[in-house]
Amino acid sequence: MIEPRPCRGDSLERMQDSFHTEHTPIVSGAWRRTARGAGLLTEDGSVAASIFAEMSALAARTGAINLGQGFPDEDGPAEVLEAARQAISDGMNQYPPGRGQPTLLDAIARHQQRFYGLTLDPGSEILVTAGATEALAATILALIEPGDEVVTFEPFYDAYGGLIGLGGGIHRTVPLRAPDFQPDLDALRTAVTDRTRLIIVNDPHNPTGAVFPRETLELIVQLAHQHDALIVTDEVYEHLTFGVPHIPIATLPGAWERTVTISSGGKTFSLTGWKVGWLSAPAAIVTAILAVKQFLTFVNAAPFQPAIAVGLDLPDSYFSGSAAEMKGKRDVLATGLRAAGFAISVPQGSYFIVADATPLGFTDGADFCRRLPELAGVVAVPIAAFCSPAHRAEYAPLVRFAYCKKVGLLERASAQLAALSRR
Ligand SMILES: Cc1ncc(COP(=O)(O)O)c(C=O)c1O
Repeated sequence: MIEPRPCRGDSLERMQDSFHTEHTPIVSGAWRRTARGAGLLTEDGSVAASIFAEMSALAARTGAINLGQGFPDEDGPAEVLEAARQAISDGMNQYPPGRGQPTLLDAIARHQQRFYGLTLDPGSEILVTAGATEALAATILALIEPGDEVVTFEPFYDAYGGLIGLGGGIHRTVPLRAPDFQPDLDALRTAVTDRTRLIIVNDPHNPTGAVFPRETLELIVQLAHQHDALIVTDEVYEHLTFGVPHIPIATLPGAWERTVTISSGGKTFSLTGWKVGWLSAPAAIVTAILAVKQFLTFVNAAPFQPAIAVGLDLPDSYFSGSAAEMKGKRDVLATGLRAAGFAISVPQGSYFIVADATPLGFTDGADFCRRLPELAGVVAVPIAAFCSPAHRAEYAPLVRFAYCKKVGLLERASAQLAALSRR
């Protein structure tokens, strides 16, 4: 949210300054609106630690099973790992080309063709980035002007709020509510106006696991046309849907020309630490984003790029097999959570289950998550961490559990969570 910058004589600013000046020099800059956008700016003007950091530290300190953070506990396919080792041995250790290694650009184009029938020019319509995170950052910073409105669903992946704040945008949200976390289409129509520059869609959705039906995606395209907005679609969980198809917005009629599609090898290949992401869009939009991206990381992950290319060319059975495996894990955790007494929403995609702690007598998810290691030896994160401060109360009793873990660990977590039902 853009706000008038207080001058040094402004009383609020003076109060904040006096808090800081005794110990540290005054640090001004974009960090403040970034932290505010992410909901992490405290009343005293300092930046709160994110709940993810707090909960991971809690897991480390207590030895609790960490189902808070969404990273897999098994490495990706052996041939992809081997390809990275080989690339290092082959000397692919210097700066790759600015748009990405040609082998990876070609593999991304083949992947979009094979799974979605999209024909892309690898030389002009694709950009490799440092994870989906850099793709989001470069896209948002490149495409908005200060004061532009950006619409997302809420709860939202936390980076969106921080990046919209960094770019000086105004964040408008459309609520997704339990149990199915689908948006009210009239609320979506109201949120998108002529002031909207970007509509950011995350499908499959983190943290709710919702997958949006064609009707919702079509409305987004229609609204983007009507209000001359661009669509940014974060599809990092594109291969993790269960029993429903993943429909990339860019495949809908009239969508490609105004859509930036973002994905990453992290979730598809269980290689979140490699941070190899990419985006695709019409050439002029990619060039605009590249103008910003080149001054963020310039390039990254030289030996990992050809390895991810190997992954993208794996047979269909790899992709369907990993979705089936993830569905099995979802079911193990869903059964455990139900048995423990939670009311849950069964997700159609992604890594995450949202559970309502109200039946267990808890109305504050953050408080519940802080106590969960002691109560059951498990760590989760509150859904309020994915909401703007104004809307946190509406999601207060909800918590998110990640199931991208070994089945044995999920079974152990389920057995421990059963203690909750005996309290
Ligand atoms: C919805 C969503 N977008 C983007 C990312 C970041 O992806 P990467 O690790 O490739 O930067 C994540 C990671 O959790 C995510 O859940």
